[in-house]
Amino acid sequence: MTAATGAELQERWTAVDRYIADLLVGEDPALEAALRDSDAAGLPPIAVTPNQGKLLELLARIQGARTILELGTLGGYSTIWLARALPPGGRLITLEYEPRFAEVACANIARAGVADVVELRVGAALEILPQLHAEGLGPFDLIFIDADKQNYPGYFEWSLKLSRPGTLIVGDNVVRDGAILDPDAYHPEHGDEVIRGVRRFYELVSDEPRVSASATAIQTVGAKGHDGFALMIVDGRQGLDQPRIPRTK
Ligand code: SAH
Ligand code: DHB
Ligand code: MG
Repeated sequence: MTAATGAELQERWTAVDRYIADLLVGEDPALEAALRDSDAAGLPPIAVTPNQGKLLELLARIQGARTILELGTLGGYSTIWLARALPPGGRLITLEYEPRFAEVACANIARAGVADVVELRVGAALEILPQLHAEGLGPFDLIFIDADKQNYPGYFEWSLKLSRPGTLIVGDNVVRDGAILDPDAYHPEHGDEVIRGVRRFYELVSDEPRVSASATAIQTVGAKGHDGFALMIVDGRQGLDQPRIPRTK
């Protein structure tokens, strides 16, 4: 057997994603309608895949999250998955820069029946994050970073400010076909800034004592190609790494 080409690999990853989704995700009218209407409105097809969406829901449930912050709403697909994990009284705040995307998301979120737990704020996340902080919102139990990649370093810093010990931070798109290995990798739309931003994000995580002992990243393949998620718990191992009884000298 000869080695598979890139196109053959992608076809196989997509087919496996479909196999998994058929058996383990199943049909979901509200989520499917959200993707359909996002597509019809011309939004880019870059939402998480169904099996990734379900992973986000599982992570939120494992975390017992009552408050969730999402950066990058797009058409609200991942928002709906995350919102469904919330217990009664839970809250999710999601931030989106493009008013046109936010409008589509708003309708999708309402149709999915989660409008009462979701607050969508429109604007640049780096401007809204300080406002959330000033309003005393947070700490959030789970933060999903999925907006513009060049600003991941700033999103990480604000996520820490809006977190508590035990907060789970998840970052999407931290592999990008392996482009993160190349500090000079070029992104057709955003020049060099995308990969540089993600690499800086890794460095900040690595250097940050509040998360570095509890952080990892996982490569994924699937319908969206070769990419990955970063996962970390804030202050996750503090109690383990430090003496139980404070030293007096
Ligand atoms: N989380 C979504 C996908 C998000 S795609 C899902 O999986 O369903 C990234 C989104 O971030 C896009 O909608 C884009 O408009 C938005 N975005 C880009 N720059 C932003 C910024 N500065 N502030 C907030 N959102 C931004
Ligand atoms: C792309 C994918 C994403 O998941 C995202 O959040 C932004 C962009 C992309 O494939 O271009
Ligand atoms: Mg993404």
